[in-house]
Amino acid sequence: MAYTITEKIIKNHLVVGEMTRGDEIGIRIDQTLTQDSTGTMAYLQFEAMEVPRVKTKRSVAYIDHNMLQTGPENMDDHIYIQTVAKKHGVYYSKPGNGICHQVNIERFGVPGQTLLGSDSHTPTGGGLGMLAIGAGGLDVAVAMAGGEYYITMPEIVKVDLRGKLKPGVASKDIILEVLKRCTVKGGINRVFEYVGEGVKNLTVPERATITNMGAELGATTSVFPSDEITLEFLKSQGREEDFKAISADAEAKYDMEIVIDLDKLGAMAACPHSPDNVKVIKELEGTKVDQIAIGSCTNSSYLDLMKVANILEGKTVAENVSLVISPGSKQVLNMLAENGGLAKLIDSGARILECGCGPCIGMGQSPNTRGVSLRTFNRNFKGRSGTIDADVYIVSPETAAVSAITGKITDPVSSITAKALDIEVPAEFKINDNLIVAPAMECEKVEVVKGPNIKPFPKTSVLKDKIEKNVLIKVEDNITTDHIMPSNAKLLPYRSNIPYLSDYCLTPCDPDFPQRAKDNQGGLIVAGHNYGQGSSREHAALAPLYLGIKGVAAKSFARIHKNNLINNGILPMIFVNEEDYDKIELMDNITIENVIKGVERKELTLKDAAKGIEIPVKVDVTDRQIEILKNGGLINYMKVK
Ligand code: F3S
Repeated sequence: MAYTITEKIIKNHLVVGEMTRGDEIGIRIDQTLTQDSTGTMAYLQFEAMEVPRVKTKRSVAYIDHNMLQTGPENMDDHIYIQTVAKKHGVYYSKPGNGICHQVNIERFGVPGQTLLGSDSHTPTGGGLGMLAIGAGGLDVAVAMAGGEYYITMPEIVKVDLRGKLKPGVASKDIILEVLKRCTVKGGINRVFEYVGEGVKNLTVPERATITNMGAELGATTSVFPSDEITLEFLKSQGREEDFKAISADAEAKYDMEIVIDLDKLGAMAACPHSPDNVKVIKELEGTKVDQIAIGSCTNSSYLDLMKVANILEGKTVAENVSLVISPGSKQVLNMLAENGGLAKLIDSGARILECGCGPCIGMGQSPNTRGVSLRTFNRNFKGRSGTIDADVYIVSPETAAVSAITGKITDPVSSITAKALDIEVPAEFKINDNLIVAPAMECEKVEVVKGPNIKPFPKTSVLKDKIEKNVLIKVEDNITTDHIMPSNAKLLPYRSNIPYLSDYCLTPCDPDFPQRAKDNQGGLIVAGHNYGQGSSREHAALAPLYLGIKGVAAKSFARIHKNNLINNGILPMIFVNEEDYDKIELMDNITIENVIKGVERKELTLKDAAKGIEIPVKVDVTDRQIEILKNGGLINYMKVK
């Protein structure tokens, strides 16, 4: 039997089910990661399971999101995560050590292993040949407690890379090409597997850029083979013993195939306001730029920043541009400092930020009003930068660097010298893990410190057989988790305080929603297609839960958000007839009867007595998820299981 890379890894970790496309399977998780903004909840949930020590091979808690210290909240969260990690067998990566995905590739990732992370860009680990999946914090907590992780056995897409990129065209342009062809909905229940001779021309960090942004396709994950390039990378990190070769069998069968001729690609940009709104840079050339931000988990590796340093060497950042650079890790920054790259950046007029997510989530460096910002990041949804009317373009580090010099969008292909891009892949990286704290051997002696900002998560209750509630909000297609639970610099310090956050739930769509929800003692949400796209943010389910939301009726859901709703006991319902969406209005009173039997049959009826209409909806869940919903969420289910 011939297998793809994905099938090989799944087969080695399969605990429940069979590898039949579309069926639910449970896989064993080797490694987990959390970052601070989702981590506090994940560890509160882990504590609630009363498991003394994590059962994974390796679990790591990173601090990379909330590092602004304008009050005690963030620091309280960090101390909670540090102490709870130490007590329960989790490594702790201190603030300043870097962005979770970059550090994970450098110091922890192991080819062929499974990684579950409470961050939607966890698939970055696929660049190293891991099956790396983003999930809600609760799923990660369950994995830390030794539980399997459930996914729908995905379709596998073969992305056949041929040839070699031209100078000035980057791996970022490869994933932008895939996004252009497949769109932000094209990856649902699919794994993108990169094969072909073009793979050999990509380093591990370049591969990781591609798998990172596979999250924007809505894909379960993306994966590269683990080959001699992976081995060289692991050797350079002093981790040769972690290497394991993995490739697809020659006769492996794929569900879909995409061919990309790398030689034919040009530099591209994802234009406002979606990562799949991709155009070639040539079409955008000349657009005046106000701000350029280089970094994020997509493009902050040593190679990325050395390219930028070489392009900027001896040049000056245009007077109309503010250029900020956030290195992906302490290791990257340290090496740039040692080999002169940092001096080239500083000389040019670039501003160096600390190693972390920073501007990617609007944590400082938001663009000016109606500003144009070029970013090497992965998302450009409206408002994510912190400036609601800014135009954000997603580009490669090469495009960002040449545009920083000219002050307008500029094609790197025609303006970069081959010499600037001729960077040697280091045979040895500078390794110093003194910002990683190992867990305690004797966990009983560690005291977990919870500051006043750490509030318990909202309680769920078992499913009732009758729901009678008002429609509290009706939203359009492609509502992101940023809409449902905004994540800006003002709110990030409250990620462990759901009562506070809930006052901002869905306010970008309707500022009155939280108060209406409170006045009505909860209710229902009605939505269009792809509801909850964009991130693994569990708060987008926890805040509605706190506000008493019992169910969401939508045309379709994004994968992780749907799971998060189920895990928190909120019914995800899909219109059988999409046009029924038009029949429902704000504050319609809806009754759902025989809920428990209906969930078991996976079909319910929304009744609006005033309008005299009945609307059929599907509850597209697995048998296990039916039990989770009946018990009022995953934590309750884990206790009775
Ligand atoms: Fe951080 Fe942005 Fe990545 S918030 S984890 S750099 S998507």
